[in-house]
Amino acid sequence: MIHFNPQTQTFNLVLQQSHYAFQIDDEGRAVHLGWGPRPAGADDADLITGTNTAANLHFKTQGGFKQNPRRDELLTFGDSNQHEVSLKVNFQGPPLSVEKREPMVQPIRDVRLRYAGHKITGDAQPGLSPTIPPRRWDPRQTLLVFMEDHAYQFLVTLCYRLTPEHDVIERWCEFKNQGESEIVIEMCSFGSLHFPTGTTELTSVAGVWCREFMTQREQLPIGTRVLETRGINTGHTTNPFFLINRPHQAWEETGTVYFGQLAYSGNWRIAIEQTPTFDIRLHGGYNPFDFELKLSPDEHHRTPALVCGVASDGWGGASRRMHAFTRDRILPHPQRDTHLRPVLYNSWEATRFDLSFEGQVELARKAADIGVELFCVDDGWFGGRREADAGLGDWVVSPDVFPDGLEPLIAEVHSLGMKFGLWVEPEMVNPDSDLYRRHPDWVLHFPGRPRTEARNQLVLDFGRREVVATIFAALDKLLSQYDIAFLKWDMNRYATEPGSVAGKEIWLKHVEGVYDLIDRLRRNHPTLDIQSCSGGGGRVDLGILGRTDQVWPSDNTDAFDRIDIQEGFSLAYPARIMEAWVTDVPQHYTRRMSPLSTRFDVAMRGALGIGSTLNKLDDDELAEYANYIAFYKRIRHIVQEGQLYRLARMEEFGASVVQYGLADQSEAVYSIVVGRNLYGSYRPARPLKNLNSKGVYRLVDRHGQEVHRASGYELMTLGVPGDAKQNVGYSRTLHVQQI
Ligand code: DGJ
Repeated sequence: MIHFNPQTQTFNLVLQQSHYAFQIDDEGRAVHLGWGPRPAGADDADLITGTNTAANLHFKTQGGFKQNPRRDELLTFGDSNQHEVSLKVNFQGPPLSVEKREPMVQPIRDVRLRYAGHKITGDAQPGLSPTIPPRRWDPRQTLLVFMEDHAYQFLVTLCYRLTPEHDVIERWCEFKNQGESEIVIEMCSFGSLHFPTGTTELTSVAGVWCREFMTQREQLPIGTRVLETRGINTGHTTNPFFLINRPHQAWEETGTVYFGQLAYSGNWRIAIEQTPTFDIRLHGGYNPFDFELKLSPDEHHRTPALVCGVASDGWGGASRRMHAFTRDRILPHPQRDTHLRPVLYNSWEATRFDLSFEGQVELARKAADIGVELFCVDDGWFGGRREADAGLGDWVVSPDVFPDGLEPLIAEVHSLGMKFGLWVEPEMVNPDSDLYRRHPDWVLHFPGRPRTEARNQLVLDFGRREVVATIFAALDKLLSQYDIAFLKWDMNRYATEPGSVAGKEIWLKHVEGVYDLIDRLRRNHPTLDIQSCSGGGGRVDLGILGRTDQVWPSDNTDAFDRIDIQEGFSLAYPARIMEAWVTDVPQHYTRRMSPLSTRFDVAMRGALGIGSTLNKLDDDELAEYANYIAFYKRIRHIVQEGQLYRLARMEEFGASVVQYGLADQSEAVYSIVVGRNLYGSYRPARPLKNLNSKGVYRLVDRHGQEVHRASGYELMTLGVPGDAKQNVGYSRTLHVQQI
């Protein structure tokens, strides 16, 4: 609910369990009042009146100088602000008050936004919203607050869209140049956020290729902590989400935790500043590094969303809200009878570039036998792509690999009862390709300067419309010609030497180009599913998730490494999008041996896939695979649609224990993997969560055997017995069913 008090000019945004409020001050500035959990017992009539808020709106002065920690809803460069800002603008023309004939000495870089009205609507959309509808499409109340810099007729609309059931607010801005001269936006966040003093513990993730999503928890300094990527993909080194709380006052299931995510897949930045006065503010949006956005007279720009919220049930509560929001409001609603993710087979680790019709058919038959539902051919099927050094850009089936085209393989896959998928990497080109030979100028580079190749490839210049059009035509043709149900959309290098016809706007233009390509392909091929992959987990964010169905979190499929990767991933993203493969041992990169049970127990925590060399497995092993896959199909509705509880972290407990539970408490999945066992230490059972206290549950293993029976109360107090003394390598997954 959005409420406006016209006497005090106070806005209250009321969500299911949280509130957010701000007020227009006597000079017309929009100033933040507060954000947090709603007090117990509060109802819709309980609001902040705005009559007692003067102290919140005032400057603090120190030593006679205004420190200006004023909590503007959008912190702009200008006025007396010396801190981080969300918006910095360069006005090229003279202010309205200055005679036009008076020469402009320099562009003015001072923005002072003043309230010019507001509107509550139900149909507003952030910038770069996908055109494919998510599962829930009912309109949500959105507050539009019109702010103006009167000197320049520069209009900024502050937008707040509410998803009350998940305590989520989406913040974004719309900028309009209503003046007569060009405006250059130099810094642009989608919104500024203010946290209560003392909320100085930040949880985020960091990593590299094959070690993405490592959880890190730290104390914010006085100064600015920056999470960012300077790229055209989301990046491996960190990911655009955060959790913030008071140190030692939040844990997995307790404490107030603020959370946020960006719905954007390139050049992003989240800057969190703690001022010397202990005010804490956050700016999330485009990275100002090499950034520029020009607005000609009458032009406007709408930013994507900064998605944020607050939970009073700890990091777990914050994660569950982000998961539910993503499932309901972000992920595309699939156009088929089931929305559960299929079990996938992909031969990348098994065959690499060594593809052949016969080899793929052999794998497909084995895959179908063990219960796989989607068979995906990875890299190497097209153009001159026999290794990673040629062919990218030539999206035509290679007669060297498939002499009769893809039809016979697809027909075989279909006759085996599976769907067919294909790998593509549309944003890239190898210099050794027909596309590059035809258009050597279609790549990011600064003319006359050296340029860097990575994995022998260059990035196509999506600043050129003709490039996006050419790639669209090639992919659209492929999808029209063949019955392809699934694309694995890869992106394997960072952008360097970002010279483009679009100038500095290339960072944004690239993301726009990718989104536009996917949106149009999905419109033309409505039953198509897409997996976002970027050399592993380099493109996972709410922007790409609006147009893809699942993601590849990492090229590292080692079961033990994967526990940490998946845990960090789970802080923000739901299990249903987390593609997780069982692969061969020793694992391709780490060379570690891990039992098949551990590999399955870890992979079954997400959208299960198989990447093993199936034709090297004997019948007993294949039967084991089949047994696990059949079990996964019995529990996947809980994993993919249920609520996640991280019952124990490997780091602190020596075992990773997670639970997925249906909201109606009828079923759950319990999963434990032991990774460390210090002699002399004792590992107590972990109590389960959110079961029916009075209900009786049976715990069933993958063979359908009941291994334990207890009341919900006992399971939520004593946990599952039998795991305490187990050693490294022990794991199991149990289906918890109410009887
Ligand atoms: C990187 C991906 O993450 C892998 O799974 C695989 O598809 C390769 N690219 C293919 O080049």
